[in-house]
This record gives sequence, structure tokens and C-alpha cells, in this order.
Amino acid sequence: MKKVLVTGCLGQIGSELVMRLRKDNGMDSVIATDIRKVEGNPVVEEGIFEVLDVLDADKMLDLAKKYEVDTIVHLASLLSSVAEEKPQVAWHINMTGLVNALEVARELNLKFFTPSSIGCFGKGTPADNTPQDTIQRPSTMYGVTKVSGELLCDYYYTKYGVDTRGVRFPGLISYETLPGGGTTDYAVEIYYKAIEKGHYTSPIGKGTYMDMMYMPDAIDAIVKLMNADPEKLVHRNAFNISGMSFEPEEIKASIQKYMPDFDMDYDVSEKLQGIANSWPNSLDTTCAQEEWGFAPQYDLDAMTKDMLDKLGKKLG
Ligand code: SER
Repeated sequence: MKKVLVTGCLGQIGSELVMRLRKDNGMDSVIATDIRKVEGNPVVEEGIFEVLDVLDADKMLDLAKKYEVDTIVHLASLLSSVAEEKPQVAWHINMTGLVNALEVARELNLKFFTPSSIGCFGKGTPADNTPQDTIQRPSTMYGVTKVSGELLCDYYYTKYGVDTRGVRFPGLISYETLPGGGTTDYAVEIYYKAIEKGHYTSPIGKGTYMDMMYMPDAIDAIVKLMNADPEKLVHRNAFNISGMSFEPEEIKASIQKYMPDFDMDYDVSEKLQGIANSWPNSLDTTCAQEEWGFAPQYDLDAMTKDMLDKLGKKLG
């Protein structure tokens, strides 16, 4: 991963991955791209940035050639809740964008990373300690695109020898850039509302467990997997990973350790709750640990402490 083209760079993951790769490998080591250009954003201003719609296959190929990249990290995609609002658009963006990126990787012999998600699971999947290899019958369009993406990446690996790698991200929690349109977004919003209002109304019901991870661990996981010895990888697309699993009462209790006056009530969203109910409670991450040394650092309380500290400064 010496020179990387990243799609969807102004999203929640991209905005932090780009800064990390520039810091580790040099300012010119990343070609940051997104469908829009946001003036003043450090991802746009501080290094190489190009406007790229991932549906424009020709431009993606041209950029990869122009900058002589060796890796593509393909992040552009619609998340679960918004994908349920416009399933046909989600299929088009998530799948055509992925095919375009895989084709560039095939043609130029590039390494390839794209995330899957806990959304790739569904009916019939064991909900607790969900195994790496198990039933994947998602009920959301987001999940359908994620399972299809996993299969397609494996296909490009076995058929064409493209070095494809991926992880199933859980809900990602961060203070730099908001997620948009996901089912796990509540676990980010709750920290903003704790600081702004001292109160949060959860759209996810009491007792609903989902896997989560703090962004520094997610970025580390991408870098570690991309640097892993291919000989050791039994799996490729995509590894179960997770930093923690909690339900709304537990994240509330964690915030109350640092902000005793914080309180929370519920106004459960039928749509989000339906999606959350179809996802696992907790993933088994053994394969990721054994095959490439996955080792997250943050548990719930360590994350809460850091989030409240960083967001407190950010929001003044
Ligand atoms: N965070 C994502 C979502 O909620 C799951 O991968 O859609």
C-alpha cells in the first residue's frame, strides 16, 4: 500500500483513513476522491484530491493510471437505513461502483480493499458469537449488496488473482465525521446529544445488542489487513471484526460514569429496529485474530472517555 486511490473519502471512514495514510506514508501516497468537493475540508485541501463518481468507470481507470497507484480502497457506498429508502439506487451505487473498482484493480493488477458489514447477516444466522463462515441471508438491500460484494471480491481473487481483502465492519463510532443513514448511527449521535443537551432519545430499543468499534481500531484494522502476509490468509472477503457489543442501556451507563446527569429515553423507530433485529448480537472474530493479528484496543468505557473528551473540545 504505497500509493492508494481511496473512493468515498469524505465519508466517516475515508476522512480518517486518508489522514492516517498521508501521515504514515507521505502526503503524495494517497489519491483522495469523492463525488463532491468540500472546500476547507483537510482531506480536500491538504493533499491530492480528485472529484470522482464511482459510477464513472473511465475516470476511475484514468486516475489510477495517472497517479500510478498500487492499491484501491473502495469505500463509496450507501448505508443500511438510506438504502432501504431507495433500494434500486443503493444496488446501482453499491454494486456498479464495486464492479468498476474491481475492474480497475484487475486491469492494473492492484491490491484491493472494500468493507463488508454486520449487515451481511440475517435470517438463520446464529445471533451470538456469529461464526466467520455461516448462513448469510440478509433482509435489507444494504445486506444484499454486502453479501454480493463479498462473493464478487472472492470471485476476482480466485478467477483473476486480484489481491482482494475485506472486513465486516460493525457500527463505527467516531468524532471527526458523522456517519450517514446507518442503523448503528445512534451510538454516535448519543455522544453529540450528551454534550449538547445532556439527553438522548434512542431510536433503537432497550436490549438490542449490536457490534461496534471505535474508529482508531477500524483504521488500524484496514492497515493491518492490507499489510498482512497473503500466505496466512485463509479467508479474504470478508473477516468478522468487532471491538465491543452493547445495547442502549449499556452505552447510557457508560456515559453516566463521566456525565452523571445524562439521561435517555426511547422513541423506537420501526424501520431501524427491524434492521437491527435482523443483525447479530456479537461476532466471533477468531479468524481475524489468527490470520492477521486483529487486536482492537478500545472497550466501551475507554471509547466513551475519549469520545466525550474529543467531542467536548470540538463542540466547545
Ligand atoms: N454502520 C452500518 C449501518 O448501520 C453497518 O455496517 O448501516
